[in-house]
Amino acid sequence: MSGCSDNVSGCLGSMSKVIIPARIVANESRGGYYSLKVCLGAAEGELKLKPGQFIELGLGQSDLVLRRPFSVFQAKGCELEILYQVVGEGTRRLRDMSMGTELSVMGPLGNCWPIPDESEAAGQRVLLLAGGIGAAPLAMLAEELLARDVRVKLILAARGRDWLCEYEWFQRLLPSDGLMVATDDGSVGVAGMITGPLDLVLQRDPSYDCAYICGPEPMMAACARRCNEEGLASWVSMERLMACGVGACLSCVAPTTKGLQRVCADGPVFAAKEVMWDEARASRVR
Ligand SMILES: Cc1cc2nc3c(=O)[nH]c(=O)nc-3n(C[C@H](O)[C@H](O)[C@H](O)COP(=O)(O)OP(=O)(O)OC[C@H]3O[C@@H](n4cnc5c(N)ncnc54)[C@H](O)[C@@H]3O)c2cc1C
Ligand code: FES
Repeated sequence: MSGCSDNVSGCLGSMSKVIIPARIVANESRGGYYSLKVCLGAAEGELKLKPGQFIELGLGQSDLVLRRPFSVFQAKGCELEILYQVVGEGTRRLRDMSMGTELSVMGPLGNCWPIPDESEAAGQRVLLLAGGIGAAPLAMLAEELLARDVRVKLILAARGRDWLCEYEWFQRLLPSDGLMVATDDGSVGVAGMITGPLDLVLQRDPSYDCAYICGPEPMMAACARRCNEEGLASWVSMERLMACGVGACLSCVAPTTKGLQRVCADGPVFAAKEVMWDEARASRVR
C-alpha cells in the first residue's frame, strides 16, 4: 500500500546544472564526521536543490581533478552545508581546509526523493531510515514532508554515539514519538542494527504509506527487504564511485530491473524493489 508519489524522475533534467564558486565559512568536527558550510558566490540563486539531489565539490587541487559527490544536508540562502566522512585523499584534504578557502560547487545533480503532492500529502505517514551519514540527504526531505503535514517517523542508526548523524538537529525537528535511535554498541537508543526497531515499528503499525532509506548498501538492502515483505513501498538513495557526475562516463552504474542505471543521472534515488541487491553487492568497487 502506498500513498506516496511514484514520480521519482519528476525532477530529472528539469533544472540546468551550474558551477558556482564557493567559500568555506565553517569546517568542523561533529564526532566521527565533519560539517562543511560554504557560502555560494553570486550565482547562488541558480542552484535550486530539491531534497535527494546532490552536488559535486571541486576541491581546487591541481592533482585532484575529479569533483567529489556529496548530499546536501542544508541549503539556506547563500549557505550550503554538507556532512562528510574522511575516507580518502580528497576528504582528508577537505578536512584540513580552513575558513576562506575557495572551492566550487556543481549542481543540482541527479533526481530527487518522490514527495506526495500537496493536495494529498496531509495526514500521510512515512518512515525515514538513516544509517550513519546516510541521514544527510534525509534532512531536507524531512523538512519538506513536515511542511506538507506528512507525519514522519525517523529511525536514526549508527555504530555508536559519535556516529549518530545530527541527532540533536533531528530531535529539534521531530516530535518525540517521531524519532527512534539504534546504535550497534548500545551507547544510545536500542542496541543493535536498524532492522530491530524497524521490525518493531512495522509489527505495531503496518499502515505507513512509504519509506525513504539511506545508508550503507547492506543496511539499505536489509531495510528494503523488510519493507517489501510488509508491502510497504520504499525508496533508496544509492551510492557508487563517480567521475563525471553528469551521466557521461558510466562509471557509476548500478544493476536494476531496468538494466544498468547511472546513479548520478538516473538516480541516486531508486525504487528499492527495482534495485538488484545481490548483483549490486557483487559489483561494488567499495
Ligand atoms: C550521490 C552521492 C552522495 C554522497 N554523499 C555523501 C555525503 O553526504 N557525505 C559523505 O561523507 N560522503 C558522501 N558520498 C561519498 C563521497 O562522495 C566519497 O566518500 C568521496 O568522494 C571520497 O572522496 P576521497 O577523495 O576522500 O576518496 P578517494 O577514494 O581518494 O576518491 C577517489 C575517487 O573516487 C571517488 N569516490 C570515492 N568514494 C566514493 C563514493 N563512496 N561514492 C562516490 N564516489 C567516490 C571520488 O569522488 C574520487 O573521484 C556520496 C556519494 C554519492 C555518490
Ligand atoms: S559518474 Fe559519470 S556517468 Fe555517473
